[in-house]
Amino acid sequence: MSQDAAKRKAAEAALAYLEPGEVLGVGTGSTVNHFIDLLAERKNDIAGAVSSSEASTARLKKAGITVLDLNSAGTLSVYVDGADEANKHLQLIKGGGGALTREKIVAAASRKFVCIVDESKLVGVLGKFPLPIEVIPMARSYVARELVKLGGRPELRAGFTTDNGNVILDVHGLEILNAVELESRINGLAGVVCVGLFAQRPADVLIVGAASGTRIQTAA
Ligand code: 5RP
Repeated sequence: MSQDAAKRKAAEAALAYLEPGEVLGVGTGSTVNHFIDLLAERKNDIAGAVSSSEASTARLKKAGITVLDLNSAGTLSVYVDGADEANKHLQLIKGGGGALTREKIVAAASRKFVCIVDESKLVGVLGKFPLPIEVIPMARSYVARELVKLGGRPELRAGFTTDNGNVILDVHGLEILNAVELESRINGLAGVVCVGLFAQRPADVLIVGAASGTRIQTAA
């Protein structure tokens, strides 16, 4: 089974978590794109969606799904999103698509976070995937120096601006043994908008699409 087919399997399984008549939170990325395409068939079951990026908003609208503002939607019952890495505690690295800040906001505002991945995203220790950090442009060099002190090798994501008008530093070389603490430390640096570590609010359910069958995991 291809990686893309595994992503679609995970997206299919996430449909079981739809809450009829409720507003759904929708993430960003190629796995979520499968989910949005499948959701098009179920659009009458939900009251609409809150989107985590301009890209997902465009795809949701094209699928005929009403996109709502989080401020008017209130607490969401379910948020469905992908990840770049996931460990057994369902702590995640996200932000490969650069939408981490809005993703973290929608996840925080949701009662249940359903994460959909293919098997390649499962890791023992987070950090092989470069950790994305959204930074206010004027703080780029300062934040990069502070990240070096934490043992990382930050690289500016070339030619990329987030939906919020900021830049991304992708931090290589981290072995993240205490994700909750690192999330706090990086979030505490002046100029950091958001770090792509989802540890303080991990996923509640991890759906893993694989050739051997789709697996549902909850935190170990
Ligand atoms: C976007 C994200 C994505 O969820 C993450 O990059 C996974 O993407 P894909 O489903 O394309 O593998 O965090 O900011």
